[in-house]
Amino acid sequence: MLAIIGGSSLNRLSALTATRRVTASTPYGAPSGALVLGRLNRHEVMFLARHGDAHHLPPHQINYRANIRALRDHGATRIIAVATVGGIAPPFTPGVVALPDQMLDYTWGRAATFFDGADGTVKHIDFTQPYDEDLRVRLIDAARHADEPLMVGGTYAATQGPRLETAAEIKRLARDGAHMVGMTGMPEAALARELNLPYAALALVVNAAAGTGASAQAIDLAAAENLAHTAMAGVIRILEAVVALIHDGD
Ligand code: HPA
Repeated sequence: MLAIIGGSSLNRLSALTATRRVTASTPYGAPSGALVLGRLNRHEVMFLARHGDAHHLPPHQINYRANIRALRDHGATRIIAVATVGGIAPPFTPGVVALPDQMLDYTWGRAATFFDGADGTVKHIDFTQPYDEDLRVRLIDAARHADEPLMVGGTYAATQGPRLETAAEIKRLARDGAHMVGMTGMPEAALARELNLPYAALALVVNAAAGTGASAQAIDLAAAENLAHTAMAGVIRILEAVVALIHDGD
């Protein structure tokens, strides 16, 4: 089953006809909220609000391990993550929906692995390509079917938050090769890989990153929030299309 992890402004998937809410527990604790099972565009999906149903969890306090483990334990076989990001340079401008293909991780102090040595073994995963290519291709097809623009490719930088970045930090991310910046992509993606769950992300650009473009002096947080609400409709149309494609393709 496809699982969708919704980020800021996708707390509830309004297009989802919910049939069941599951309060899950895992060896790592409780996930951010209930797993919502239901139908999206007539197909079964599972939904989890990353920041909790009431949007109460900041990025560094999300129990990423519990989230990924709970989804897997309840039948998820693939994960599409939705996140809002800051765009570091054109063409990653506000309103754009991007499908990143690479990541940089600047987070710290998060429980970031299932392989913590507790079982007496040392395990590594290959993470050369952090996003699942098959799932990315399906999202590209879905966007085409839904006639929604999708910016294919780009490097997602995960910062610790919850504060936004300084202008100098964004310059450094740009020098490092980042195109967009968010706070939740890691360790989420790595944990999914550790459990062999194909994972891809749709990143909605809601603001120019600190010190760039319209955010040269400051980020207009209210404008970013407004855009997140209005532009999420395009993301939802891509999700509706991808569930049908996945269903038909399997
Ligand atoms: N930086 C980090 N995370 C974000 C941003 C940003 O500018 N916008 C939305 N999430």
